[in-house]
Amino acid sequence: MQKVVAITGASSGIGLAIAEELIKNGYIVYSLSRSAPNNTDIRHIVCDVSQRDSIANAYKVINEAEGHIDVVINNAGMGISGPVEYEPVEDIERIISINLLGVINSCAEALPYIRATKGNIINIGSLAGEFGIPFQALYSTTKAGVCAFSLALQNEVKPLGVKVTCLMPGDIKTNFTANRVKAEIPDDPVYGDRVRRSVQRMEKDEQNGMPPSSIAKAIRKLLQQKRPPLCLTVGFSYKTLRSLKRLVSTKTLNKILYGMYGK
Ligand SMILES: NC(=O)c1ccc[n+]([C@@H]2O[C@H](COP(=O)([O-])OP(=O)(O)OC[C@H]3O[C@@H](n4cnc5c(N)ncnc54)[C@H](OP(=O)(O)O)[C@@H]3O)[C@@H](O)[C@H]2O)c1
Repeated sequence: MQKVVAITGASSGIGLAIAEELIKNGYIVYSLSRSAPNNTDIRHIVCDVSQRDSIANAYKVINEAEGHIDVVINNAGMGISGPVEYEPVEDIERIISINLLGVINSCAEALPYIRATKGNIINIGSLAGEFGIPFQALYSTTKAGVCAFSLALQNEVKPLGVKVTCLMPGDIKTNFTANRVKAEIPDDPVYGDRVRRSVQRMEKDEQNGMPPSSIAKAIRKLLQQKRPPLCLTVGFSYKTLRSLKRLVSTKTLNKILYGMYGK
């Protein structure tokens, strides 16, 4: 029987690459996104992950059409940048409702179906959740939340046969960079040029990052494993970076991050 996968945000970037890789390998894939993917092999359900009803409806429709859901990949996300004190309240609430509440609500709605198949839940976090990135504090916060949530959920559902993984990519070259919402701070006397320099550095890192297909291949392999990892980072340099966190003090680590993105 063909396995059925629901991916939030498979209309572009990482989600689209995962969808194409899994379809190539015999899976039936649905994208839960506001816009349709331009690959017609990917089935599309209009869904806004910031709305719980919209997510609930999407899983109901998939289950009615296929009879089962084997894998849910919570990938939809956005980025915002700027000094915390200048972030508009609407942007703060928006990123939390998509990046964090979107994942929580999707897991809650998907679990009855995923429990039935003893399937997989994969939440796309970020290395930015392991490291507090200045001028992207809200993004780091949502991704740290996704990681903590995934670890807690894993221990809730382990006896039920459900596998949970938090995948934490480093920099990946996608439209994420162009889609980032930037706080307006004309002629700022407080943070000056630090914000522009920080975001520019991050954007350059992203645009020199790994292709989204690297994440897609890692997920294809993960889905073949009986005991998939609880947390996963793709790429040697990003794995090394994650290990560094365990080797240096929090103070030293934050000093390094200040040098990279704070000055
Ligand atoms: N690119 C990176 O360097 C990087 C690194 C680490 C982690 N990540 C994470 O990877 C995930 C995918 O990012 P990406 O790089 O592939 O960015 P992307 O190309 O901008 O794709 C974002 C996807 O999320 C969907 N989305 C956004 N808001 C949504 C909403 N309210 N409801 C439903 N879908 C929504 C978009 O679809 P619609 O607009 O059609 O709704 C789109 O398919 C994100 O969670 C991101 O935080 C990215």
